[in-house]
Amino acid sequence: LAKVEVELASIPEGKNVTIKWRGKPVFIRHRTGDEIQEAEAVNVSELRDPQTDAERVKKPEWLVMLGVCTHLGCVPIGEAGDFGGWYCPCHGSHYDISGRIRQGPAPLNLEVPEYSFTEDKLIVG
Ligand code: FES
Repeated sequence: LAKVEVELASIPEGKNVTIKWRGKPVFIRHRTGDEIQEAEAVNVSELRDPQTDAERVKKPEWLVMLGVCTHLGCVPIGEAGDFGGWYCPCHGSHYDISGRIRQGPAPLNLEVPEYSFTEDKLIVG
């Protein structure tokens, strides 16, 4: 199965990068300290698909997830929506800075793929 490598140094803090993996977009965000705090401060019991931020990341500064809306599969837009994360324009789903569904018709959080880190790379797959 194909793996995709990304140089971590190529993604500055506060930026998103989208790569292709198995024909699907994968969103990678190098989160800021403020974004990590915001993601961790959310009251999980109020979420539609309850997951802590720690359950969704291996390293707090790197958020990695499939760029496929869990409603009907559109590609959400980054740095958009009312929850500081992603917005799916197809039917109006808002995802937070941990990729969790917060408002709109999508039933689930954005899916986290298999990935790992080396010293200077992210390996998806
Ligand atoms: Fe994203 Fe419908 S496909 S809200």
